[in-house]
Amino acid sequence: MRARVFPDYEAMGAAAADAVARALGEDPSAVLLLPTGTTPLGMYRRLVDMHRLGEVSFLRATFFNLDEYLGLVPDHPASYHVYMKEHFYGLIDADPARIFVPDGAAPDPEAECERYEAAIREAGGVDVCVLGIGRNGHIGFNEPGAPFDSRTRVVTLSESTRLVNAADFEANRAPEQAITVGMATIFESNEVLLLASGTNKASAVAAALEGDVSESMPASMLTLHQRTVLFLDEDAASDLGHGVPG
Ligand code: GLP
Repeated sequence: MRARVFPDYEAMGAAAADAVARALGEDPSAVLLLPTGTTPLGMYRRLVDMHRLGEVSFLRATFFNLDEYLGLVPDHPASYHVYMKEHFYGLIDADPARIFVPDGAAPDPEAECERYEAAIREAGGVDVCVLGIGRNGHIGFNEPGAPFDSRTRVVTLSESTRLVNAADFEANRAPEQAITVGMATIFESNEVLLLASGTNKASAVAAALEGDVSESMPASMLTLHQRTVLFLDEDAASDLGHGVPG
């Protein structure tokens, strides 16, 4: 695992967008596994700009999202379906037939997870996975304790994650469960870009990078992945004690 540190959020997002665009330049039919949250917004903005300038096309790419809240219909304003449409899929030339987001309102969530995992397999696996990181080290919605061999499944969110995400919901109450792509599926991605910005991510970044590899710190699994690059702004890198592994 390598880390790259950028002076600020904008520079980090631009570099991540360049890395995604480069992967699509090499393989226009690449399979992408993508995050939500505030962290990737700069990357999405830059990719949309590049698309408008004719620098990148997404027409042949396949898109999977990492996660979705359980119980939310796809047009719920806090759903990740809506987030992705507003910030990315609705602004580029993506083929709707190749956009996949877990259906949080599926009548049989377990079957939905199996269907989703099978769709990733049928697409040939993930070429580029982009991740954010939770303050407790979660990736996707794989909370501390998530088995490294896990696949797409229904998970219970930690209280701390629900608190951080509460503002998106009426009465400040986030759903208790979600569907997330599993740790093993993430790990099998050919390339992983993990983005982190701000001092509130600094301790999770340092623990993931410099602490023990442990299921209690999900992002630590990526230190075992040959082609993972951390994209950090200076604030997110501020707790690294051993310098930046380059
Ligand atoms: C959510 C998402 C994660 C995301 C994390 C960090 O819980 N499920 O995929 O990485 O939050 O979000 P943010 O980038 O807003 O800090």
